[in-house]
Amino acid sequence: MIVTTAQLFKHAYGKYAVGAYNINNAEQAMGLFKGCVQSQAPFIIQLSKGARKYTDKRMLEAIIRAAGDVFPEAIYAVHLDHGDEQTCYECIDSGFFSSVMIDASHDPFDQNVAITKRVVEKAHAKGLSVEAELGMLGGVEEDIKVEDGNACLTDPDEAKDFVNKTGCDSLACAIGTSHGAFKFKGRQSLHFDVLEKIKARLPGYPLVMHGSSSVPKDEVDRINAAGGKIKDSMGVDPTEYLPAAKLGVTKVNIDTDGRLVWTRVHREYFRDNPGDFDFRPPGKIFIEEYAKFIASRNQLLGSAGQLTDLRASLGVRKDQFAKV
Ligand code: G3H
Ligand code: 13P
Ligand code: ZN
Repeated sequence: MIVTTAQLFKHAYGKYAVGAYNINNAEQAMGLFKGCVQSQAPFIIQLSKGARKYTDKRMLEAIIRAAGDVFPEAIYAVHLDHGDEQTCYECIDSGFFSSVMIDASHDPFDQNVAITKRVVEKAHAKGLSVEAELGMLGGVEEDIKVEDGNACLTDPDEAKDFVNKTGCDSLACAIGTSHGAFKFKGRQSLHFDVLEKIKARLPGYPLVMHGSSSVPKDEVDRINAAGGKIKDSMGVDPTEYLPAAKLGVTKVNIDTDGRLVWTRVHREYFRDNPGDFDFRPPGKIFIEEYAKFIASRNQLLGSAGQLTDLRASLGVRKDQFAKV
């Protein structure tokens, strides 16, 4: 059942974080739905611009619709990840999305405000919510002085000003993470101090953490043992998800970890079966492994086991399948 992102945030805020997982194909969709139903967790499906172009945006939307039929118990929202203004409008008009992210974080503050405001007006008119971003992710490393590193982090006063000026519904904050598999050199902790200050200025307001993959060492070791060459990888400590959730982080974005599961499964499969050329056996293994990974993340996010309570708060029965 597709619900609005706002409904998920209302239920989760301050208690747990909703996992927001990027998908690109049918195998990922199967694993994601399976893992979330197994762990009884609500979730957000994220589609990036690249994912929408990978085959065809209509393919991906049809896969998600079909997955909703295959797993009628699932409760989820569909979100555009890192949209530009034009793509936001396309998704708002499509009638398929629950929410969009406008990412104008690389523009100067005033321009970010102006662009975000335009998207908010169009999205709200159609009942969608908007995530925006302030601060810049990436490059927060131990060998950069803390002052330099902090320059990339979201400024708590600016965050309040930005939300007031734009009316955006959630805010992606830079609190020390970055996208991809190489997040830190040595230090591996979120900037809880910054998070606390943002929460104090925006009480009750949903915050979003991008670049949240944990880049598990055993996963990377297995990839490298099967021929991969991923060096110096480092992710977020996943035991920090829940403490962050208590400080207002309501959506945690995970993409890279899913790619690592895919790479490990396929590298190992073809290493062990060098004469094979049927993609279905590794595809099947991937679906199961990805489902297991998703369920484990939902446990750490605190979203596992929330479906019954969420369903009650939405006033829907378990056997109901409809757009709320
Ligand atoms: O933050 C970006 C996500 O990991 C999506 O990546 O644009 O390569 O699909 P992508
Ligand atoms: P990771 O690269 O850490 O998985 O982050 C994904 C993300 O932020 C998608 O928007
Ligand atoms: Zn991101």
